[in-house]
Amino acid sequence: MDQGSTAADRRETPQRVAAHLGALKAAVSRYGFAGRDHFGENAVSIAVRQHQDHARYTRVAMALHWIVAVMIIGNVVLGLVADDLPDGWIRSAVDTHKSIGLTVLGLAVLRLLWRFANPPPPLPDSYSPAERLGAHAAHWALYALIFALPITGWIHDSAWKGAPTHPFALWGVIPNVRIGAIEALDAATKERIHAVFFDLHVWFGYALYGLLALHIVGALKHQFWDGEPELQRMLP
Ligand code: HEM
Ligand code: HEM
Repeated sequence: MDQGSTAADRRETPQRVAAHLGALKAAVSRYGFAGRDHFGENAVSIAVRQHQDHARYTRVAMALHWIVAVMIIGNVVLGLVADDLPDGWIRSAVDTHKSIGLTVLGLAVLRLLWRFANPPPPLPDSYSPAERLGAHAAHWALYALIFALPITGWIHDSAWKGAPTHPFALWGVIPNVRIGAIEALDAATKERIHAVFFDLHVWFGYALYGLLALHIVGALKHQFWDGEPELQRMLP
């Protein structure tokens, strides 16, 4: 469990005690007091484990969170600057953008499946009802965008009239990763799809900037203003 944590990490604070009681309450309401979850743990042992873990996400969830976060932020930068790069670089910058995006889509599927099997630690009791609602809404909206951004980009690219003369291989290795059913449509329909899905791609980008700003400011507020071990929830 608590590998590598320091004495300060393990020190009890009123907020931590409240968080652990919250975990116990959540586990009791989810599984009943004596009931067991699919790993054979009952409410008390779940609460004790979460107490020992200081209510952290699993290591897999942490790894997926930070890998996807770096790839998404990198892809926003690449998407925005690609057109301003020297001519010889544009093609490979845009192709790298597409490969990163499709990789994010794959990782997002794994991440959601992992999340269903390993529910995140309950939010600390010290969160107000409004903060609880806001945090959950922001997390689900971010999940929606982690899917919506690559999917709209993928559809936009598959409807591109230049696709036949600009083959795209995922990471330069896996050929023909465009959506065949879209490539097979007539030219006029593809032109419309190409335009509409690029607009959606750009608008989802704007939504991402706003939500990400809220997400990061919210995390920093809990960490530094409220003095909660917030970032530790997502750090090994
Ligand atoms: C510097 C940047 C970031 C910081 C400091 C950060 C921090 C955090 C923290 C502390 C949590 C745990 C929240 C909790 O349950 O208490 C979290 C969860 C989450 N973050 Fe981030 N994050 C960052 C970037 C991102 C990015 C770029 C995305 C995706 C676009 C993202 C999506 C999410 C999602 C969806 C969750 C909820 C995870 C779940 O419940 O399964 N984060 N983040
Ligand atoms: C992590 C997922 C993704 C993110 C965050 C993302 C974000 C962005 C952003 C912010 C832009 C610039 C939009 C603007 O001009 O305001 C962009 C452009 C673009 N995206 Fe994505 N995108 C993602 C995935 C994809 C995928 C999977 C594809 C295609 C397979 C794709 C294809 C494109 C194309 C073709 C452009 C136009 C690039 C140019 O010529 O300037 N994107 N993307």
